[in-house]
Amino acid sequence: MIISDRMAGIQPFFVMEVLSRAKALERQGRDVIHMEIGEPDFPTPPLVIRHATEFMQRGEIKYTPAAGLPELREAISEYYRDRYGVRIASERIFITPGASGGFLLAMGLLLNEGDKVLLADPGYPCYSNFARLFGGIPSLVPVDASTRFHLNSEMLSACWDSRTKGAVIASPSNPAGAVLQPEELKRLVNELEQKSAFLIADEIYHGLEYDKPSPTALTFSDRVFVVNSFSKYFGMTGWRVGWLAVPANYIDDAEKLAQNIFISAPAPSQYAALASFTEANLQELERRRLVFQERRDFLCENLQKIGFSVNAVPNGAFYVYAECSRFTSNSLDFALNLLEETGVAVTPGKDFGKNLPERHLRFSYAVTFDRLAEAITRIRRFVQCRS
Ligand SMILES: Cc1ncc(COP(=O)(O)O)c(C=O)c1O
Repeated sequence: MIISDRMAGIQPFFVMEVLSRAKALERQGRDVIHMEIGEPDFPTPPLVIRHATEFMQRGEIKYTPAAGLPELREAISEYYRDRYGVRIASERIFITPGASGGFLLAMGLLLNEGDKVLLADPGYPCYSNFARLFGGIPSLVPVDASTRFHLNSEMLSACWDSRTKGAVIASPSNPAGAVLQPEELKRLVNELEQKSAFLIADEIYHGLEYDKPSPTALTFSDRVFVVNSFSKYFGMTGWRVGWLAVPANYIDDAEKLAQNIFISAPAPSQYAALASFTEANLQELERRRLVFQERRDFLCENLQKIGFSVNAVPNGAFYVYAECSRFTSNSLDFALNLLEETGVAVTPGKDFGKNLPERHLRFSYAVTFDRLAEAITRIRRFVQCRS
């Protein structure tokens, strides 16, 4: 079999083991509460579906320009102006197949063989894999609750060497759901600029913040790459549409690369996404955000009562990254046993890096309040036998 060497470095998601066992249990008639899931439980907003349906009924479902529908790029540019007070020319915005497509584009533009990319550990696992695909070397920096699971400018300096070319940050983050403070974001942006390095800021969970809204990294510099998506806040995971904002001097290269690797993001999804920015839809998304916030409060409080430690209370996304060392020194086994005995599926820390994964679990609260309450009852019963 002919296979590239780099495939050996690409990890599968361990949560798939949990998910496939959960599916098997469901086939046997067991009731499973899916707290391993990384997507909103809400359906695509009806207005968005209507817009896409009208477009599809016209039957002209063709490629769009590689950089995306001009109207959608314009709408995103206006969104930056209205939401963040930042001016980003629409030519700098590239519509991609989800944030994942944005990462492909950004890393394809930036990485040479052997370039090191700094990443927080724990973090979203795909960053490492995207870097590897382009010959980059992920350099995992252990982070903990003392920095709310974020990289900071001191860590960047401490870990820097001649092969380091840049960093990826995410705020709110996955798995910790932690928002980076604006001052720290600014410091990181400045530090990387001083080093003439790149910064890719993953802002996919923007909009799902529970203290105050975050500024975009674009507030502090025109030279950062910002990845975002309609998947999470906008509730459109399956539509596969997101965007990448590039610095002005990368526009031509980004266009060339997008033409080659995507041709275009799906046309119906781009039309659907256009409806996301209507006032009625934004109001619906705000209502959903408040529901998430209520669930966050409930879950954090109850996990702690049961005996999990939530070392940095999450203030964004829809995850709680909790320490389970009071009950186990192997969170993967714990997750599998929890599923087997109680039908509650959660994600083991192993999916998010090498930094104490065996002590952590990620609980997603993208499930209804009733199911969350039921999950807590089941988890409490399960851990009572273990403490
Ligand atoms: C932090 C983070 N970035 C990017 C993605 C990929 O999102 P998309 O569906 O837009 O490709 C995810 C998906 O879970 C994520 O959690």
